[in-house]
Amino acid sequence: MPERESSLMCDKKQLLFIAHAPSENVQKMVAAVIKGASHVDITNVDIRYIPPLETQPEDILSAHAVILGTTENLGYMSGLMKDVFDRCYYQCLEKTQGIPFTYFIRAGHDGTGTRRAIDSITTGLRWRLVQEPLICRGDFQPQFIEQCEDLGLSMAASLDTGII
Ligand SMILES: Cc1cc2nc3c(=O)[nH]c(=O)nc-3n(C[C@H](O)[C@H](O)[C@H](O)COP(=O)(O)O)c2cc1C
Repeated sequence: MPERESSLMCDKKQLLFIAHAPSENVQKMVAAVIKGASHVDITNVDIRYIPPLETQPEDILSAHAVILGTTENLGYMSGLMKDVFDRCYYQCLEKTQGIPFTYFIRAGHDGTGTRRAIDSITTGLRWRLVQEPLICRGDFQPQFIEQCEDLGLSMAASLDTGII
């Protein structure tokens, strides 16, 4: 049985979280997304965090929804996040159309180039953006952590209840 079909028959829904976290601040944001998605009231969703370098096409094929997280570097998503798409794009194309997703960007001062790039690639994949992306721009703010927790909670709750 194909990987995606067999996974979709599992009891719990799989929420895949791929994020590049090169700094302590972004690591805290990643932890917050995981915390939000692991809320005690969400019983039917498993959040699975995988760093970009370890992400394989099979991980995406077996997910019910995806959260991406990246820094903006040199006006674009991080190289490691781009590498995920470089390695996985064609194996996912055709098989992950319509998969619900959202993302966060941590940008020192901008974020627009990264947003454009993610939107462009995921449009090509025909992924379904189900939640407004979170752009955490400028000097690091404690509220970024709360926003990341909300992002994880909201995606997991939506998946849990079948809204997405
Ligand atoms: C090589 C390099 C290039 C960067 N380029 C950009 C950029 O083009 N736009 C931007 O908004 N921030 C840029 N930044 C800032 C990073 O996005 C930021 O340092 C990162 O998100 C970590 O955030 P933190 O300082 O809260 O840990 C760059 C950082 C580095 C190290």
